[in-house]
Amino acid sequence: MLTRRIFVGLSAHGLAALCGLLPFLKACAPQPSPAKNQPDPEDSAAEPLDWAGFLAGVDQLALEQFSGAWDQEAYVEELATLMRRLSPQDPILLEELADAVGAIRNFPDIVTLVEGPDHSYDVAIVVFEEGEEIPLHDHPDMTGVILGLTGEVEIQSFDLLPELSASGALQLKRLAVSNVTPGVHATLTAARGNIHSLRAISRTELLDVFTPGYNQDRSARSKWFTRSTTPLDGTTDIFEARED
Ligand SMILES: [Fe+2]
Repeated sequence: MLTRRIFVGLSAHGLAALCGLLPFLKACAPQPSPAKNQPDPEDSAAEPLDWAGFLAGVDQLALEQFSGAWDQEAYVEELATLMRRLSPQDPILLEELADAVGAIRNFPDIVTLVEGPDHSYDVAIVVFEEGEEIPLHDHPDMTGVILGLTGEVEIQSFDLLPELSASGALQLKRLAVSNVTPGVHATLTAARGNIHSLRAISRTELLDVFTPGYNQDRSARSKWFTRSTTPLDGTTDIFEARED
């Protein structure tokens, strides 16, 4: 089960399901621990993990979702710390990254490498060529951690506001715009920054973990969005939007 490999098709739901990109953006937004998405010097003191050790750690950590009161904010930071322990030179990781190139034509290459038991998590890699983008989409009822391996990607993250605009449109509040580079991570939870878009500044490789992973229900509820290019009058961070 832990070696199952899945290539993503081009359907909207499939892509949303696996795009794996989650920001936690610190530039413009209140966030609980902004410094934590930067490389932590203490991480270098932790024992590096190979691919098998990394997967074993994810498998164990993901059990937290079944606890009575799952603290998603704490979980994504724990998971990010684990992800940074995976050696960037791990031969299995390098092989998977090389194999991912060209998996999807004219779109970032997204490959889900591992599905946890009963869709408890997904481990995926994403390879962008310079300028490639993944439009706004959500990850319903899921958390996510994305770790930069190479390159640089800009991530914009949003919350869907409960009320419609005066003209009856959806409203997205931008939490932040952040750039994920090697060793930098971004996160989302079910309640914070669950909608995001990504644009590669240069060729970029990312490692993503979603908890829980995609199952039929969560894939079916995944949505794409289009937003206005400018914020609503009188605001700097609220945009009208529609579902695609
Ligand atoms: Fe995503």
